[in-house]
Amino acid sequence: MNYRRLGRSGLQVSELSIGSWVTYGNQVDHNLARESLAAARDAGVNFFDNAEVYASGRSEEIMGAALKELAWPRVSYVVSTKFFWGLNEAPNQYHTLNRKYLHNAIDGSLRRLQLDYVDLVFCHRPDPNTPVEETVWAMSDMIARGKALYWGTSEWSADEIRAAWEVAERHHLHKPVMEQPQYNLFHRRRVEDEYRRLYEDIGLGLTTWSPLASGLLTGKYRDGIPAQSRAQLQGYDWLRGALTDAGKNAIVAQLADVAAELGCSVAQLAIAWILKNPHVSTVITGASHVGQIQENMLAKEVAQKITPEIKARIEAIVGNAYN
Ligand SMILES: NC(=O)c1ccc[n+]([C@@H]2O[C@H](COP(=O)([O-])OP(=O)(O)OC[C@H]3O[C@@H](n4cnc5c(N)ncnc54)[C@H](OP(=O)(O)O)[C@@H]3O)[C@@H](O)[C@H]2O)c1
Repeated sequence: MNYRRLGRSGLQVSELSIGSWVTYGNQVDHNLARESLAAARDAGVNFFDNAEVYASGRSEEIMGAALKELAWPRVSYVVSTKFFWGLNEAPNQYHTLNRKYLHNAIDGSLRRLQLDYVDLVFCHRPDPNTPVEETVWAMSDMIARGKALYWGTSEWSADEIRAAWEVAERHHLHKPVMEQPQYNLFHRRRVEDEYRRLYEDIGLGLTTWSPLASGLLTGKYRDGIPAQSRAQLQGYDWLRGALTDAGKNAIVAQLADVAAELGCSVAQLAIAWILKNPHVSTVITGASHVGQIQENMLAKEVAQKITPEIKARIEAIVGNAYN
């Protein structure tokens, strides 16, 4: 495993990491979580991504219990959580990044994770109803109180990230060091265009999500929806149209030919393509069972085979079929 600096911070994260969205609490119980985390760690993964809202807090509980049983030295791994949506539909408890919510939310996450601190904490979406100064002070205070080590944003616009960074700079507060955007062969514009100047200007690091576009980039949806896949989970029907899109699946079929030439799976090719972007600090992968983790972790070997020519071929196949 290679380790990359999280943006301009000194923190080293494995270039491939594991997240718990959809899977923990739905497909992955506490025993499978423990096995999955162990398999990922065997491959060199040191970063595990979570969020308050995942499975309404249950995802943090499952990861926390599994980490406790695994009993690895705390210094050897990095855990994140994210705040915005909240767990209760009540004022100051959901859809906000105000000081009161953030002050309480971190304590709830630490309790569910059974940890003294999280390494990374993200503002899971921008909040148009809270002044950015208030959010920046609250996040910086969270770090000053030792409850988190680094903070960042998720799916904020470039302007919103820069505004937050400038508030922190002006008041000598802890600055946002990372953003968590979607990034895969079908979703590129934000990472490659919108954030372009932030990498140099403020040293932004990226922990990118949905490298396989929820499974589309494995090729498993080329002939419809397979049993035991994300698309057939209750509550995820909104993903079905995108996963079975005929045009995108035709592109995936062509990517499968490139993968076959390189002796790898489409999933490995799609993840390896992301690894070629030096602005990405870590690619957060998802998995519903251990075999997927073992397959996906081999993407780092495939990255070595992605020459500029292969990269150009992959991008020509995708053309402009991306957001
Ligand atoms: N910040 C945010 O707003 C945000 C949003 C979304 C995700 N995230 C983070 O990013 C992480 C990864 O996102 P994601 O889960 O959407 O990633 P993804 O890699 O796009 O999709 C993962 C899913 O694809 C399927 N899969 C994975 N490897 C496979 C393989 N080798 N062969 C066949 N199927 C395979 C599995 O689903 P099935 O087996 O069920 O089909 C797996 O759960 C999340 O866990 C979360 O931590 C963050």
